[in-house]
Amino acid sequence: MRVAIIGAGAAGLASAKHVASNGFECDVFELREQLGGTWVYTDDVGTDIYGYPVYSAMYKGLRTNLPKEVMGFPDFPIPDQNKSYLTQAEILDFLNLYANHFDLKKLIKFSTMVTDVRPVEENQWRVTYINKPTNESVTRIYDAVMICNGHYNDPVFPHILGQENFNGKLEHSHTFRSPESYKGQRVLVVGAGPSGLDLTLQVSRVAKYVVLSHHSPEANKTAYPENVEKKPDIKRIVDSELVEFVDGSCCGFDVVLLCTGYKYSFPFLHESCGVTVDDNYIQPLYKHMIHIDKPTMCFIGIPFNVCAFQMFDLQARYFCKSLNGSMRLPSSEEMRMHTKREMQNRWAKGYSKRQAHMMGQYQETYYNDLAADANTIPIAPVLVKLRDLSVKRLYDDLLNFREDRYKILDNETYVKLKVQ
Ligand SMILES: Cc1cc2nc3c(=O)[nH]c(=O)nc-3n(C[C@H](O)[C@H](O)[C@H](O)COP(=O)(O)OP(=O)(O)OC[C@H]3O[C@@H](n4cnc5c(N)ncnc54)[C@H](O)[C@@H]3O)c2cc1C
Ligand SMILES: *[C@@H]1O[C@H](CO)[C@@H](O)[C@H](O)[C@H]1NC(C)=O
Ligand SMILES: *[C@@H]1O[C@H](CO)[C@@H](O)[C@H](O)[C@H]1NC(C)=O
Ligand SMILES: *[C@@H]1O[C@H](CO)[C@@H](O)[C@H](O)[C@H]1NC(C)=O
Ligand SMILES: *[C@@H]1O[C@H](CO)[C@@H](O)[C@H](O)[C@H]1NC(C)=O
Ligand SMILES: *[C@@H]1O[C@H](CO)[C@@H](O)[C@H](O)[C@H]1NC(C)=O
Repeated sequence: MRVAIIGAGAAGLASAKHVASNGFECDVFELREQLGGTWVYTDDVGTDIYGYPVYSAMYKGLRTNLPKEVMGFPDFPIPDQNKSYLTQAEILDFLNLYANHFDLKKLIKFSTMVTDVRPVEENQWRVTYINKPTNESVTRIYDAVMICNGHYNDPVFPHILGQENFNGKLEHSHTFRSPESYKGQRVLVVGAGPSGLDLTLQVSRVAKYVVLSHHSPEANKTAYPENVEKKPDIKRIVDSELVEFVDGSCCGFDVVLLCTGYKYSFPFLHESCGVTVDDNYIQPLYKHMIHIDKPTMCFIGIPFNVCAFQMFDLQARYFCKSLNGSMRLPSSEEMRMHTKREMQNRWAKGYSKRQAHMMGQYQETYYNDLAADANTIPIAPVLVKLRDLSVKRLYDDLLNFREDRYKILDNETYVKLKVQ
C-alpha cells in the first residue's frame, strides 16, 4: 500500500504519523520549504521566488484563539508551560517537535507542489508533482491519496457596490502580515469572524480609528479598544474614501481590510476525480472526509469550528483503518444514502451550503460517530467543553480572554487557573 499525502501542515503530519505506523509506504508533498502549514510565518505575499503562489494567511503577533490544552494531538499534547494561548512561533515549534518525535521529516518532499491528481484503473491514483527549485515534474502511482492542503488560501472577495470608486487600499486578510503599514490610517475591517476580530485588535493599536462592519450578534457583546466603532454591513462605497453603511451612516477610510473568509480549493484535482465544490459544499463526501465513489481518496480537516488537530488525528485513524481492512466502509450506495440523509437534516436545520461542513455544536456527535465506526479512541469530552468555553470567552471578552489559563484534570474536567 502506497499513500500520497498532500500537505505537511498539522493535518498532513497527523496523517503521515498514522500511515507510517500502519506500515504503509508514504510520500508527503509540501510546497513550502518547511512543515507546519498555517503556522509558518512569511513576509512574502503573492508569488514566491519560483513564481508559485504564496500559501500563507499568517501574520506577525498572532496568538492562538484556542488554549494549548485543546490544540495538542491525542498521543502528543502540547508541553506544559505558564500560558494557555500560545504564539504562532510556539505552535510551529510544537509541530516540529511532533514531527521529530514520530520521525516524519524523512517522509516529506519539501518545495514540492502537487499539480495533478487523477484516478487510474485498479482503484489507483496518478499523482504529478513538481519540484519548485529544479522545475522537474514527476508522476507516480499511489493506492490512496489523503488531501491535507488546508483551506485558508483561496480568499473570498465580496463585490462591494461602488468599490471601483475607492482610492485607498483594499486588502484581504490573506495578505495581512503586520499592522505597521496601518499606522495613523482610517481602517474599515469587514467581517467579525475570528480573523476580523483579531485584526481589529491588532490594527487598532496603530490606526487612527477602526470601524468593524459586521452582522454577527455574537460580536456585539464584547468591549473593543476605544478607537474602534462597530457598524452594520456596507451599503456602498460612495467616492474615493467615503463608505456608506446600511443604517445610512457614512465614514471615510484609507484602507478596507476584508476578513471575509476563504473557499475550499483543490486546484490539483483533475475533473475525472469527480469532486465538486459548490459555495463551499464539497461533494461527494461521506462523513465530511471519504470520497464516496472512490473511497481510497480522503480529505483531512474539512469540518470547521472543531478541535482541529484532535480531529485531524481521528480522521487519519479512521481512514487508515479503512485502508488496512480493520474497518469496512459501507458500499458507495449506502454512503450516498447516509450522506443524503445527513445533509437533508442540516438543510432542515437552516444550514446554508457555506455551512455544509460546519460542526460547532455537532462536533462531539461527529467525533463519537467516527470513533465508534472505526473502533478507535474517541476525543475526550473535556476538550469539546473547553473549546466551547474558549469560544464563548472570545466573544464575551475579546480584550482579555487570551490571559485565561486552564488545566485539564481528566477526560471530563478542566479547571480555570488563577491569573498570575
Ligand atoms: C490566521 C489563522 C489563525 C488560526 N488560528 C487557529 C487557532 O488559534 N487554533 C486552531 O486550532 N486553529 C487555528 N487556525 C486554523 C488552522 O488552519 C488549523 O488549526 C490547522 O493548522 C490547519 O492545518 P491543515 O494541515 O489542515 O492546513 P495547513 O496548515 O494550511 O497546511 C496545508 C499544507 O498543504 C500545503 N499544500 C497546499 N497545496 C499543496 C500542493 N498542491 N502541493 C503540496 N503542498 C500543498 C501547504 O503549503 C500547507 O503547508 C488558524 C488559521 C489561520 C489562517
Ligand atoms: C511558570 O512561572 C513560575 C513563576 O513565574 C516559574 O517558577 C515556572 O518555572 C514557570 N513554569 C514554566 C513551565 O515556564
Ligand atoms: C518550468 O517548466 C514549465 C513547463 O514545464 C515552463 O513553462 C516554465 O517556464 C519553467 N520555469 C522555469 C523557472 O524554468
Ligand atoms: C449590535 O448592537 C447595535 C446597538 O448597539 C444594534 O443596533 C445592532 O443591530 C447590533 N448588531 C447585531 C448584528 O446584532
Ligand atoms: C490496522 O490499523 C490499526 C489502527 O492503526 C492497527 O492497530 C492495526 O494493527 C492495523 N492492522 C493491520 C493488519 O495492519
Ligand atoms: C480517558 O479516555 C481514554 C480513551 O477513551 C481511556 O482510555 C481512559 O481510560 C480514560 N481515562 C479515565 C481516567 O477515565
